[in-house]
Amino acid sequence: MFTPQGPSLRELTTQALSSVEHGYDLLAAKFDATPFRTSDRLLTAVTRTLETLGPFDSGLDVCCGTGAGLGVLRSVCAGRVTGVDFSTGMLARARYAHPTADLVRADALALPFAPVFDLAVSFGAFGHFLPDAQRTLFAQVHSALRPGGTFAFPLPAPPPVGSRPYWILWGFDAAMRLRNAVWHPPFVMYYRTFRLADVRTRLEGAGFHVSLVPIDSLGHREDGSPHCRLVVARKA
Ligand SMILES: C[S@@+](CC[C@H](N)C(=O)[O-])C[C@H]1O[C@@H](n2cnc3c(N)ncnc32)[C@H](O)[C@@H]1O
Repeated sequence: MFTPQGPSLRELTTQALSSVEHGYDLLAAKFDATPFRTSDRLLTAVTRTLETLGPFDSGLDVCCGTGAGLGVLRSVCAGRVTGVDFSTGMLARARYAHPTADLVRADALALPFAPVFDLAVSFGAFGHFLPDAQRTLFAQVHSALRPGGTFAFPLPAPPPVGSRPYWILWGFDAAMRLRNAVWHPPFVMYYRTFRLADVRTRLEGAGFHVSLVPIDSLGHREDGSPHCRLVVARKA
């Protein structure tokens, strides 16, 4: 599927019937050949935006997977770069691609860090966290940041209601809800559970001050609003 190097439909189905952690272990070797890996275009645009907000010292990539965000941190952080993920398979690929990064296997809902990081980023993983888990995740990231530290991540604008992408995401989430109603272990991955207003409220509930920076290089919608914003959450 996706590309000749990517997983077959059968492999993807097996992955989707597993737990999130085991599913990513199974997918790891071919993950970078799927559209689930954050695109270089988005990573570059976020890097350029973060460059205007720095300087940053040590950096943490939350749910780093094969290391997409580690390159961003390497570009904008002067200090050590750390990735955390609970999939051993994904971390093995990240270790291969980023041999000098510190890679830690842990659940992002129970991060094993003192408040030492200056910048935390996360890409492509929020769909794995239902609203209650998002509150825990944000509190965990908050506790891993030093005072004044920043948690930043891109948040694309939702597709217009009724558009083709809208129905594709709606259909994906509906299929996932059906799958989780009839099959265990659950595979939590929803596209429509991470809306700006709710995210902002949950970040503020975790103690962050939130601002939004348009990522202009990714273009604008017909109404002039950006296709994608960088959410910048600062620890007081
Ligand atoms: C879609 S991948 C994104 C990987 C990478 N950040 C990227 O943008 O390409 C989601 C990643 O989140 C990780 N993940 C999901 N839930 C997690 C949790 N509770 N704790 C740690 N990692 C988690 C998965 O193992 C997987 O590597």
